[in-house]
Amino acid sequence: MAGDFPDIIIAPLGGGSNFAGIAFPFLPYKINEGKNLRCIAVEPASCPKLTKGEFRYDFGDSVGMTPLIPMYTLGHNFVPAPIHAGGLRYHGASALASQLLKDKLIEAVALQQLECFDAGVKFANAEGIIPAPESTHGIAAVVREANKAKEEGVAKTILFNLSGHGHFDMGAYQDYFDGKLQDHHFTDAELHTGLDKLDTPKIEE
Ligand SMILES: Cc1ncc(COP(=O)(O)O)c(C=O)c1O
Repeated sequence: MAGDFPDIIIAPLGGGSNFAGIAFPFLPYKINEGKNLRCIAVEPASCPKLTKGEFRYDFGDSVGMTPLIPMYTLGHNFVPAPIHAGGLRYHGASALASQLLKDKLIEAVALQQLECFDAGVKFANAEGIIPAPESTHGIAAVVREANKAKEEGVAKTILFNLSGHGHFDMGAYQDYFDGKLQDHHFTDAELHTGLDKLDTPKIEE
């Protein structure tokens, strides 16, 4: 429809819905036609299920009511440090997003919230749209990829999902401008708080 084809597709990932919506329709071109397409899911550094979690069976909910799902997870009991992108604080990723990452058909990156808010403010100034804190994760990854393309002197078409507006999150932007937000450096101890409590089966390779 746009008369172009993306080189890179980017979206924030809480559980995987908006990432799937924008990226999955393009994956057949990569899988069946060998298109050189990168799909990047962006998670917060304080809840790094894709980049630091384990691929294993876990519950989709924190109480353990769902069927067991093969997924990248930090453990359904995991409680992340507070950040302003509340919708990205889910402990795992959907079965489909997880399997695609495991099969190396998509990529994942974890970003800190100050870089994300900085990108969100840049986007609001440039486009006149205030993005949701969740969406700023995608925008920050777009900024990274665009700068990389500029440095390499190559043109890239980057498609990203603006998953929501930030009109209900003005308090978060105020905290950012007031210098009250902090980055969070995820530790091995945090990783173990959720994973060590899991008694769900591991997935044999
Ligand atoms: C604006 C926004 N973007 C992204 C997400 C992440 O969710 P999902 O990965 O399921 O699309 C949320 C979740 O609440 C959200 O509110």
